[in-house]
Amino acid sequence: MSLSVTTLPGGMPAEEFLRDYWQKKPLLIRQAFAGFDNPLTADELAGLSLEEEVESRIVLEHGATPWELRRGPFSEEDYRHLPERDWTLLVQAVDQFVPEVADLLRAFRFLPSWRVDDVMISYAAPGGSVGPHFDNYDVFLLQTQGHRRWRIGQQCDADSPLLEHPDLRILSQFEQQDEWVLAPGDMLYLPPGLAHYGIAEDECMTWSVGFRAPSQAEVLTHFTDFLSQYLSDQQRYTDAGLALPADPAQVDDQTVERLQRMILELVQDREALGTWFGRFMTEPRFPELLQAQEPDAQLLAEALDNDYGLVRNPSARLAWRQEQDRYLMLFASGEHCLLPTPLLPLVQLICNQDYLGAEQLQAWRADPEAMQLLEQLLAKGDLLLEEDDG
Ligand code: SIN
Ligand code: CO
Repeated sequence: MSLSVTTLPGGMPAEEFLRDYWQKKPLLIRQAFAGFDNPLTADELAGLSLEEEVESRIVLEHGATPWELRRGPFSEEDYRHLPERDWTLLVQAVDQFVPEVADLLRAFRFLPSWRVDDVMISYAAPGGSVGPHFDNYDVFLLQTQGHRRWRIGQQCDADSPLLEHPDLRILSQFEQQDEWVLAPGDMLYLPPGLAHYGIAEDECMTWSVGFRAPSQAEVLTHFTDFLSQYLSDQQRYTDAGLALPADPAQVDDQTVERLQRMILELVQDREALGTWFGRFMTEPRFPELLQAQEPDAQLLAEALDNDYGLVRNPSARLAWRQEQDRYLMLFASGEHCLLPTPLLPLVQLICNQDYLGAEQLQAWRADPEAMQLLEQLLAKGDLLLEEDDG
């Protein structure tokens, strides 16, 4: 059973995209979402930016300083004083707050879902831009309203020269390679590190589906922190068979080799690595949006009897892993639980489907372990009860 989607929006086979473009080069897809019905107006986006829990920014090209950055939450008064042109409002993680925006992510299931970061939405007045820059992550830029001119530049890295700016990483040099004007429904994929410069031709909205990849520094520090919990104080550097040192003050090569062997042995634990990674990649962005409560078997049974289904909390992140043929692991918002392998089809449903209807769950109701899993996810807030509207 394939749970992924096999073509990109617009029809390119996913295998072709993954082979030729993903992490390698940009791809413009005209009318990827032809006739896209924008579920969010600019006013509604601005409304979100008034909320305390929402992360938002406004960039003004000619503000109090060049490329002035203002951070939300904003007030209606703030919007009354904005100029006619050359500014952009950016709202992070709109998928966590607007279910219709989260729905878009289904179209990206040709990539691991734990790689998805968020859907950021920008609204720009004519001329609005956040300047030439590069990002460290892959992004699909979907034009949902108006037109934006995208200029594509050079491949950048940590040494690429930047303007002196307290908050924004704007490139001081931009070597244009290509230029396209995107209309509603058009989408542009950009790999990490590629310079880009989007300028609004008219009032426009752009949705950025951003992907996350942990930095090597994060992998090392977080994985070793995880491993360290299981190491006792007695497990130490050892040097039995030590050769007589030529100079007792020297840290010799044998010492470095001993250390290297010790570290390699410790990090070789693939099982621990898989467990840590699943937990790390499913850590929620807004843990406060997951409300835990006591597990309640009665509540779930009654809900399913009354045609309620389960929806994934948009703030929850779910993934799974089969550890050889020994056990199944479900990762749910930064935690993991071990499950018997026969629960795999249910785990796949939970991880991949946005709505689990009572009917779909019927077959699992006689399985106490399955019901216990659903109760726990409900109690943790990863799943929510919702009336079947189908
Ligand atoms: C924007 O939507 O204005 C900026 C998106 C980006 O360049 O990453
Ligand atoms: Co960017």
